[in-house]
Amino acid sequence: MKRFVDIHHHILYGLDDGPGTYEEMAAMLRLAATEGIGVIVATPHVTPGVAPVDYALMASRLSEARAYCVKSGLELQIVPGAEVLFTPALENLVSQGNVPTLAGSRCVLLEFAFDVECAEIESAVRVLLNGGYLPILAHIERYHCFRGRISRLKRLKSRHAVLFQMNCGALTGKNGFFSKCHARRLLLEDLIDFAATDAHNTSTRSCDMRTFFRAVEASSGAETAQALTGKNAEEYLLK
Ligand SMILES: [Fe+2]
Repeated sequence: MKRFVDIHHHILYGLDDGPGTYEEMAAMLRLAATEGIGVIVATPHVTPGVAPVDYALMASRLSEARAYCVKSGLELQIVPGAEVLFTPALENLVSQGNVPTLAGSRCVLLEFAFDVECAEIESAVRVLLNGGYLPILAHIERYHCFRGRISRLKRLKSRHAVLFQMNCGALTGKNGFFSKCHARRLLLEDLIDFAATDAHNTSTRSCDMRTFFRAVEASSGAETAQALTGKNAEEYLLK
């Protein structure tokens, strides 16, 4: 089994609701390595127009995470990224060409409020595509507007070059029965491009990529499991 690529992981400490301290970050790094993760895209929350982004601090925390991996002999590569919340101010970042992307690619991990309307998602996707970015919609299983309305997701994908990320926990049962049913359906319909942990800590919101991999391998085969947990990420982000 190849090492996993986790494109959505709140690994850097003191930046958002992820680890609060260096020690907590170190524990998360050790857990990620144990889980078989080989690459983490560090994705702290970014909220355009609401909170200024301290890129220097992000870079410094990234260096600390990398140094810890080297010092501890963890075979873990940490690359920069962000999880960008859609706000009206996103358009300004797009026009300035300043949207934080994943691993230096043109992919943007974009999240919305859970009760967002479909039309608003489509409009945000258009804004990013027009600016030359490739949107990856974070934890696509969470948005209420798509629950029981898979056709809306299909339509969005057929109209735009947009990619969908699912949280591993949605399928492994962490988020409850109904979430699991919805996640299964999305996978069966072949709508998901990436699985990621969206890890915030080592307890309530931790890494569960191996469990996800095994579940998908059993239901859809090794090729699909590998595509979702690494191959697609390598293709889109790490080339
Ligand atoms: Fe997240």
